[in-house]
Amino acid sequence: MITVFGSVNLDLVTRVAQLPRPGETVPGEDALLVPGGKGANQALAARRAGAAVRMAGAVGGDAFAETALSLLRESGVDLAAVLIVDRPTGLASITVDSSGENVIVLSPGANARVTEASAADLTFAPGDTLLLQMEIATAASLAAASRARAAGARTVLSLAPFRPLPADSFAPLSLLIVNETEAADLAAQLGLAAGDATETVRGLADRLGPTVVATLGPRGAVAATPAGETVAVPALPVTPVDTTGAGDTFAGVLGAALDAGLPLEPAMRRAAVAGSLACTKVGAQLSMPTAAEIDSALAGFAS
Ligand code: RIB
Ligand code: NA
Repeated sequence: MITVFGSVNLDLVTRVAQLPRPGETVPGEDALLVPGGKGANQALAARRAGAAVRMAGAVGGDAFAETALSLLRESGVDLAAVLIVDRPTGLASITVDSSGENVIVLSPGANARVTEASAADLTFAPGDTLLLQMEIATAASLAAASRARAAGARTVLSLAPFRPLPADSFAPLSLLIVNETEAADLAAQLGLAAGDATETVRGLADRLGPTVVATLGPRGAVAATPAGETVAVPALPVTPVDTTGAGDTFAGVLGAALDAGLPLEPAMRRAAVAGSLACTKVGAQLSMPTAAEIDSALAGFAS
């Protein structure tokens, strides 16, 4: 069983040829209003990958909330722990350029109401998996991580969007997921020597305790475990249309695979392929693959 404790947003997505400079107006394609938020995205990715998933977080009592939760609801994610609070549903204004890169303005709204008290309501069983990100208060996420760890659950934090954290924050984590920029920012914050991605995850794992996984876009992903093991897996070669949600897809699918009992390397292979597939369509949740789609991509890859 997977619990995702984190953000739920509505995403307003517009594609443009080139991102505007400050003060500039550029024409965009028809806008899309689609479900998003790093927490909700990870929940849907894990669910589509085959896991039983519970979402915990907050939305507003507004019309945005219905759209924001629609795909989670349709796919059978348990929404009983999503509170309705007196703030607007989180809104992300996302602009995507022709190379698939994005810029995001995030208005957290209801997500800012998720607190340590919300974490205290969550219960965990041994073998469960908790997925966390950085779009709710860090104190709330870390309180949930401590509870989950004490109950014998696996705890996974995606350090996105990046904020510096004290080194002891990472103690209740089994696994930390970073992209290349986050890995470099965290290493710099901790005063670790700059190196390539493999050296950086090794340095971070040795310093912080959890297994550290870095996603490397088209170069796949690399991990270092506290036991000294290093794992590298490839991405699927794709032409990116919209990279929004690729990292969330990686995290959700990795969580689902580990929750199902897969060892780290095959779990990372599934996650990396799923992340690549998520880059081939517009939108975060709209682009997330099913378990069958991941299986067939992996099969085509191996041959
Ligand atoms: O990681 C992608 C997500 O970041 C989007 O869905 C948006 O809501 C922002 O939170
Ligand atoms: Na996408």
